[in-house]
Amino acid sequence: RTVQWDPADSGKGGYPHYMLKEIHEQPDVIARTAFDRIDLGAGDVRFEGGGFDDAFCRSVERIQILGCGTALHAGQIAKYLIEGLAHIPVDVDFASEFRYRDPRIVPGTLALAITQSGETADTLAATRLARELGARVASICNVAGSSQVRESDATILTYAGPEIGVASTKAFTAQVAAATLLAIRLARGRGVMHEHKARQLLEEFRMIRPKIESLLTDEAIARTREIARKHAGARGFLFLGRGVNYPVALEGALKLKEIAYVHAEGYAAGEMKHGPIALIDPGMTILAINSVGHVAEKTRANIEQVKARGGVTVSVGSDDLSHSIADSAVPVPATDEWLSPILNSIPLQLIAYHIAEIHGCDIDKPRNLAKSVTVE
Ligand code: G6P
Repeated sequence: RTVQWDPADSGKGGYPHYMLKEIHEQPDVIARTAFDRIDLGAGDVRFEGGGFDDAFCRSVERIQILGCGTALHAGQIAKYLIEGLAHIPVDVDFASEFRYRDPRIVPGTLALAITQSGETADTLAATRLARELGARVASICNVAGSSQVRESDATILTYAGPEIGVASTKAFTAQVAAATLLAIRLARGRGVMHEHKARQLLEEFRMIRPKIESLLTDEAIARTREIARKHAGARGFLFLGRGVNYPVALEGALKLKEIAYVHAEGYAAGEMKHGPIALIDPGMTILAINSVGHVAEKTRANIEQVKARGGVTVSVGSDDLSHSIADSAVPVPATDEWLSPILNSIPLQLIAYHIAEIHGCDIDKPRNLAKSVTVE
């Protein structure tokens, strides 16, 4: 007896696309990447092989994050986390810009490459340059034997497993999870975060799995599909976020561009008044990512401003007051503000997925894009 099967579909596990399958893997991926490294008793993070020990953490004076595409967005989130929790100044740059300018590296700089594949040509070249200029090199990477890992002094592996969909989903949230752990380890290793505060944050992290799962139930998926249906005809999309959720806005917009071929821009919410506000009319959908935290009120004011100018608003996050004023809402479970990017990213992935589906796009293989860009 022979069984007919298409090898190309064999790994989709019953999902119509790898992207949807990979979105659904995120509860496991985050648990695998983070939970075994959390030491609740000590209120600390332990990396395999004792990497990022106290002496190393104390020797870092500055961090230069390098990456491309989605990985760079994880790097932008990492900047907020590391500066906010570990009090180390952080720069983030596109690897392709860093390598072709005349960058300044001060003593004590750690270059931190973020890359799913570990083979992106620009990221490799930029970190090699940083090393030549005197930096030590660390990486957050999804492929253990990759060039990037081989060329790093220290690595934090993400355990996302192989990612087939060209548009990154689970690798991104895994990078954010790894960056969160790194920020906490740096903070603890440098003695700038009290054990009690670290334990609280790590306890909250340990509780994230059911919250991710709640964003992936049939009901939650149906809600994002409904929002996609309502907004698929928009002329353009503006994603707004503040603080640690600003890069989430950038990533939400990138997902929509990549797979649905719709023009979308991510913007720091506070910058809206300096330009994008001129674009607002009933043809524009504005997605505000807003979770409970120290800037929630500010982003809420942006939603009001958009509404007053006739724009269509969708609020995504844990801030219920935002939901009460926006035209549509995607409620996300509450968590610590520092952990909110992991949760808020998921509905944005789903909204992009459903809009791409409505437009009949080739979701797993978007036109003109490659999974990893190993040549220039
Ligand atoms: C390509 C992919 C993106 C990815 C970027 C960086 O452009 O299409 O999804 O974010 O490369 O890849 P890396 O493997 O370095 O994370």
